[in-house]
Amino acid sequence: MASYEEVGIGDAVLLDEISTSAFVDNLRLRFNGGKIYTYIGEVCVSVNPYRPVTFYGKDYVNQYKGREIFERPPHIFAIADASYKAMKRRGKDTCIVISGESGSGKTEASKIIMRYIAAVTNVAGQQEVERVKNVLLQSNSILEAFGNAKTNRNDNSSRFGKYMDINFDFKGDPVGGHVQNYLLEKSRVVLQQQGERSFHSFYQVLFGATDSELSRLKLKRDVNSYHFIRQGGTPRVDSIADKADYKTCQQAFKTLGFTPEQIDAVWRIVGAILHLGNIEFSSGGDETQIQNPKVVKNIAELLHVSPDEVRKALCHRVIAARGEVMEKRHTESEATFGRDAFAKAIYERLFSFIVEGVNKAIEVRYEGLAARYKYNTVIGVLDIYGFEIFEQNSFEQFCINYCNEKLQQLFIELVLKQEQEEYKREGIAWQNIEYFNNQIICDLVEQPHKGIIAITDEACLNVGKVTDQMLLEAMENKLKGHNHFTTRKLSPMDKELKHVEEFRIKHYAGDVVYSIKGFLEKNKDTLFQDFKRLMYSSSDPVISDMWPEGAQDITMTTKRPLTAGTLFKNSMVALVKNLASKEPYYIRCIKPNDQKSPVIFDQERVVHQVNYLGLVENLRVRRAGFAYRQSYDRFLRRYKMISQYTWPNFHGGTDREGTKILVEEQGFTNDVKYGNTKLFIRSPQTLFALEQGRAKLIPGIVIFLQKMWRGAICRMHYRRMCAAITILRHYRLYKMRSYILELNRVFRNVRQMQDYGKHVRWPAPPLVLQAMVSDFQSIHNRWRASMILSSIPKTEWPQLRIKVIAGDALMGKRVDWGVRETWEGNYLASTKENPEAATFQSAVRNMRNKDGFREVLFSSLVRKINKKNKMAERAIMLTDKQIYKLHSKTFKPLRSPIPILEVSGVSVSPGQDQLVIIHLRGGNDLVISLSSHTNANRVGELTGLLLRQYQVLNRSELRVVVGASLQCMLGNKSRMVTVEESDVGSFAAFR
Ligand SMILES: Nc1ncnc2c1ncn2[C@@H]1O[C@H](COP(=O)(O)OP(=O)(O)OP(=O)(O)O)[C@@H](O)[C@H]1O
Ligand SMILES: [Mg+2]
Repeated sequence: MASYEEVGIGDAVLLDEISTSAFVDNLRLRFNGGKIYTYIGEVCVSVNPYRPVTFYGKDYVNQYKGREIFERPPHIFAIADASYKAMKRRGKDTCIVISGESGSGKTEASKIIMRYIAAVTNVAGQQEVERVKNVLLQSNSILEAFGNAKTNRNDNSSRFGKYMDINFDFKGDPVGGHVQNYLLEKSRVVLQQQGERSFHSFYQVLFGATDSELSRLKLKRDVNSYHFIRQGGTPRVDSIADKADYKTCQQAFKTLGFTPEQIDAVWRIVGAILHLGNIEFSSGGDETQIQNPKVVKNIAELLHVSPDEVRKALCHRVIAARGEVMEKRHTESEATFGRDAFAKAIYERLFSFIVEGVNKAIEVRYEGLAARYKYNTVIGVLDIYGFEIFEQNSFEQFCINYCNEKLQQLFIELVLKQEQEEYKREGIAWQNIEYFNNQIICDLVEQPHKGIIAITDEACLNVGKVTDQMLLEAMENKLKGHNHFTTRKLSPMDKELKHVEEFRIKHYAGDVVYSIKGFLEKNKDTLFQDFKRLMYSSSDPVISDMWPEGAQDITMTTKRPLTAGTLFKNSMVALVKNLASKEPYYIRCIKPNDQKSPVIFDQERVVHQVNYLGLVENLRVRRAGFAYRQSYDRFLRRYKMISQYTWPNFHGGTDREGTKILVEEQGFTNDVKYGNTKLFIRSPQTLFALEQGRAKLIPGIVIFLQKMWRGAICRMHYRRMCAAITILRHYRLYKMRSYILELNRVFRNVRQMQDYGKHVRWPAPPLVLQAMVSDFQSIHNRWRASMILSSIPKTEWPQLRIKVIAGDALMGKRVDWGVRETWEGNYLASTKENPEAATFQSAVRNMRNKDGFREVLFSSLVRKINKKNKMAERAIMLTDKQIYKLHSKTFKPLRSPIPILEVSGVSVSPGQDQLVIIHLRGGNDLVISLSSHTNANRVGELTGLLLRQYQVLNRSELRVVVGASLQCMLGNKSRMVTVEESDVGSFAAFR
């Protein structure tokens, strides 16, 4: 593990002296000390170490995860983390723009960033996110196999531009992505400079495919057998493991979900291109012919087309003029041109097909949560070909260098220009810093009508023979006097420039001499229709689908397609617009030497790069400037919890005043400046302290919010409950009301009914009233009773009461209980009943005096039955307290009276007889038969009176048994009494 010991100065903003030499010296010091990263504020300068380094492992990931940039020594991880944090914390789309010349380490940097993001995301280990990450990482090996090549500057040079969006869900996990590719340098398919190679894919298949795979592709394992890939003379490169890379690439195809048929078609196309390079033409007589028809056969087999059609397409072209279709034979050079254009076009289509396949594999699949929220943010990573100067610079270099101009312009716009303009706008005292603005060069290339691309397009439009030379003249005419453009004609003294062939552009990164040769053709990018139709005719649907326009009829005139230059320009404009809409982070890559050496730090080369990248200007702006700025309202909203004066809301004035109070309270006054609308914070440490203060308070606030929210939920529940109860209450009332109304209706006429509504059926009550209905019914019953009673004189009510009691006990059980008779009670006191009434009255007086009862309730003559079944004439008297057995003539008590409370029950028979058994607790019951002159039925009366009086004295009911056979106790023995009907009457008898 490398030590953290700092070498030189990690953040160049802290350098003592700001100059190119001081800056470069610091870079050298750090490079020699193994530190390849240096900051200019938040811009990371990376010097290619040209050796494997050890600081990208898990231990390093953990050191940078979630940290602020300035907390740890400079590292590309910190930039990746900063862009990730900005995206996650603030929901901002961010982009990381990696720039630098060819071989400076851009592609490596982009891969390191992607690996870092993969390492810090998906803590929950979701399968889909894992898949996306895997696909994102593996897509690199396919894109590099088909889009990278060995150049003289870089063994793994990207020959296409790549902008990759990584999409994140609301949790900050990668859920997909998208690759946008820019202008593949397809001329490399047919031509390479000395020391260079074509795209890796060709060498991978030759060195990596098995023998049987090769034989199916009809290829030999020999690079030198193939014209298209042997021109550079370097089939093998030490730093490239073609065989292993082929395997990795095959595996990646599978991971990305390419079907076996698609993978097969990919390699067949690669093989066909190799064969195509070996086609040779000869023009025997005036006929251009193919010298090696065997090769044509191979191509046809690999592309699944007819050999004859291949031959035709290579040697002829079919043209339609004024509705007529004609076949025109190629000259040998036309045929060679056609062949090369064909090879380039197939490869370019293949590359687009592969990028499309990659995109299908990584496109965001809105499933699960993501589908619900569809909320996602993006980090874009731009790795585009670096500025390059070759021995021979052609149209491709022109485009690549123009692209770098555009990116430099964006950097200037965002980092240098806007920054300074903002200070001015905000009224912050500011010393303007000079920098070179390359807008003038961008205009030179892209301006309508006057720009190089427009001039070239115009030349392409001309029918007839326009040559490259004429194009150069057109440029000279239009761009004469431009400070950044010249030719030999415009500067005759400049011996470096070849007459009528070369022009020079003073790029921001250096002067480049371009050869005009091929500009027109490359811009037009012609491919004869015949080839498109040929490919469309393939019986392999994978291939046929790559060429849909081959379906077009020959006679159909189509709109002239946009030129390669204009297409590229448009894509650059779109790219810059896209990048400008995101929060940018920069990695500025520097190449320390041209020897790919880990130890050489070529001062001159580095100074050159530092200059054209504008790093020292960047440093000046940064040093004088502020690390962070935020509008007052947003600042206050984010940090208001830190101060008691601003939390929860600042009411003491404007947001600016609130901000000021907060900043002063925290002691940061010296590190900030107050702009017109924004607060500017100079050092990142202050921002960090603010962030930390905020982070410390957030958990408490979250709990508070949760508490409030829970309270709100409870209150809501409570209100709902109350509402439900009100509804219920009203509903119940409604049900009650309806029931009462219904009762009203049913009982409306009861007063007129004979039984006062006794027979009326009560409607079924609602649940809520079930308990009440019995009350209603008793009210009704009472009312009925009162109605019935109202017709009965009051004097009869006491008798009636007794009858009711007797009725309760006997009704339905005993045939006749004397209900219809008038109950007089004290019969012996009446002379009608008892001739000796006076004797009785005087005896009663004596007894009352002696025993102290209040009144006689009942008296009657009886026949008493004793235990021997003997009958004796007696009288019985019931007072309010006792029962007396009296002599039937003298009415003197025969024994002391029995207290009513001694009575334990009454038994009577169901018949007409007058038998009454008064059960006593003593074990000697009173078994009597009531007798009278009138044979009146008084069993009911005696029973009723006894029951009532017992109830009055004891507050409980006496048991009454009605049965034909009755049990009684006489002389402490249990006996059964049955009443037998005889002619003379009914008699009780024991059994
Ligand atoms: N961080 C690094 N650690 C180790 N080696 C590196 C690093 N960066 C770059 N290199 C070496 O430098 C070589 C070139 O880097 P890279 O391919 O990233 O350059 P580039 O800027 O993408 O160039 P081009 O514009 O040609 O695509 C790599 O193949 C690798 O050997
Ligand atoms: Mg690259």
